[in-house]
Amino acid sequence: MVGWGMGLLLLGVLGFAAYWALVLSEGAYFGPRVVAWLYDRTAARYDRIKNTQPSDDARYLARPLLLALEAVPDPLVLDVGTGTGRVPAALLAEEDFCGRVLGVDRSPGMLGQASCKPGVVSERCGLVLGDAGSLPVGDARFDAVICLEVLEFTACPQEVLRELTRALKPGGVLLISNRVGLDALWYPGRLCGRGRLEAALRLLGLEVVETETWQTYYDLIWARKAPSAGLDRAGTQRG
Ligand SMILES: C[S@@+](CC[C@H](N)C(=O)[O-])C[C@H]1O[C@@H](n2cnc3c(N)ncnc32)[C@H](O)[C@@H]1O
Repeated sequence: MVGWGMGLLLLGVLGFAAYWALVLSEGAYFGPRVVAWLYDRTAARYDRIKNTQPSDDARYLARPLLLALEAVPDPLVLDVGTGTGRVPAALLAEEDFCGRVLGVDRSPGMLGQASCKPGVVSERCGLVLGDAGSLPVGDARFDAVICLEVLEFTACPQEVLRELTRALKPGGVLLISNRVGLDALWYPGRLCGRGRLEAALRLLGLEVVETETWQTYYDLIWARKAPSAGLDRAGTQRG
């Protein structure tokens, strides 16, 4: 009987470990290929599952971004881990947005969904396959760089933060999300939880780092790249 009990306990532990690794943490600890593969599998259902509301995206993302970029006539925006194109859709829906958006994602399936969305199909939006840890863009090109609900899935969030900062023009706006609350416990070692990302951004030389509550398990963090600073691909501070 003790042997059966131990066997069942072991099975339960293994089952939970598999559930955590593939479902709760969405493959994050198996590397970017597995994460992208899992997103490819759910891409067609992603928007239905998330049920994000355009009015919320306008209120919490697009309009505050426009305000932060009001001094820039035709802003160039980079959305890293763009998924099904939530940020491009929200920005392009704003009458006052006269700029262009480039969405980068590692999952062809998610980009495929984005490219079918009427709100995203525009001469002012490009979609590119690429990895957040090695962005296919030059240094200091973008007026704003956005990365929402992505960092916790990347093998090295610090490296991604360096890449996001590298792509930003001096004085440019950074907007990222931070997984917080009980949900952050599923991502040990991934800079999740309140205060950690903010500290990492300050170490990279970002300024005016401000946090606001967004969703139950996500904060939004806004920051600006110092007007005279820059980072090259190696993460070396210039300026
Ligand atoms: C939870 S979705 C968020 C999508 C979008 N940012 C949004 O807010 O709706 C996470 C996205 O990040 C992408 N992703 C995960 N790891 C990535 C990486 N290393 N490089 C690029 N994209 C990545 C996934 O393919 C997926 O589309």
